[in-house]
Amino acid sequence: MKRVKVFAPGTVANIGCGFDVMGLTLDGVGDMVELTLYNDKKEFDNETRMLPAATCRACTSAVKNSSGTVLPQSAEKNVVTPAIEKMVETYMEERGIKEHFYIMTEILTKIRPGSGIGSSAASSAAAVYALNILLGKPFTDEKLVDFAMEGEKLISGTAHADNVGPAILGGVVFIRGYNPTDLIRLPVPEDFYCTVVHPHIMVSTKEARDMLPESVSRKDAIRQWGNVGGFVAGLLMDDMKLLGRSVEDAIAEPYRKKFIPGYDALKAELLGAGLLGVNIAGSGPSVFALSDSRSLADRGKEIMERHFALEKIENEIYVTKVGKTGARVVE
Ligand code: HSE
Repeated sequence: MKRVKVFAPGTVANIGCGFDVMGLTLDGVGDMVELTLYNDKKEFDNETRMLPAATCRACTSAVKNSSGTVLPQSAEKNVVTPAIEKMVETYMEERGIKEHFYIMTEILTKIRPGSGIGSSAASSAAAVYALNILLGKPFTDEKLVDFAMEGEKLISGTAHADNVGPAILGGVVFIRGYNPTDLIRLPVPEDFYCTVVHPHIMVSTKEARDMLPESVSRKDAIRQWGNVGGFVAGLLMDDMKLLGRSVEDAIAEPYRKKFIPGYDALKAELLGAGLLGVNIAGSGPSVFALSDSRSLADRGKEIMERHFALEKIENEIYVTKVGKTGARVVE
């Protein structure tokens, strides 16, 4: 058998203006998985006897949850399963191979599910990255994003790459288009920090997507693409003020903010204190604030702490640099 341990970081999807087309990597927060590729069924059965497993025409994939976090009991409902199945099927189709693969993914550490910082994406990103190594790296990292998106489809109903893209590639990732997925790695300024608060409120990604209207007005569309352009230009020109004022959203924030008690007041206080841009992380309920110094990022943390203490909502807060590295092997 072959075995490898991989870490994939948490991510902030959308970054305010880029609904489904932009995401950034958090530094040091994420999921760790250990993936095993067995030589045969007997070896697999010996090690995975009591574990939930799913079988497709290309592989049998078992999932072991050692993270201490509650995850779906059945393998079919775990995000790593469709990601791995799609990857093995593609591998075999491209090579005309007919054998059956036996794989176990052990989830060792896990971001709290439903946090909005890419908790589902980090596991599937880590799993496909690990399997690619054990198969001898037949796929590019960009192609791995396509496989990991299958996990997002399972969770939210739509295959989007704004969490799995940065979770695999690192840095800030822009998705110019889908079909085929066109991923662009944007430059990451040296002093670029993200403070994220995760209030313990349950918001499912599917629910947070289903509530959004199918169409937007021309006025909102103009505002949105102006901001996306501004954000990308801000990164390319290393203009943090431009980047910050581009963190606006007419697509999802107006609808999703109602899940977050006191959201408008929190945002106003953070911006008033000098944080560059504030918005909802992914589908929420986490809120992020961007800054260009550690002291400002820490100031954001104090404001978030006080806000949710007054709201009497438990939470956790991460203060990290925007990470430049995505999924990676852990020794
Ligand atoms: N772009 C996605 C959304 C990210 O906002 O629904 C969450 O998975």
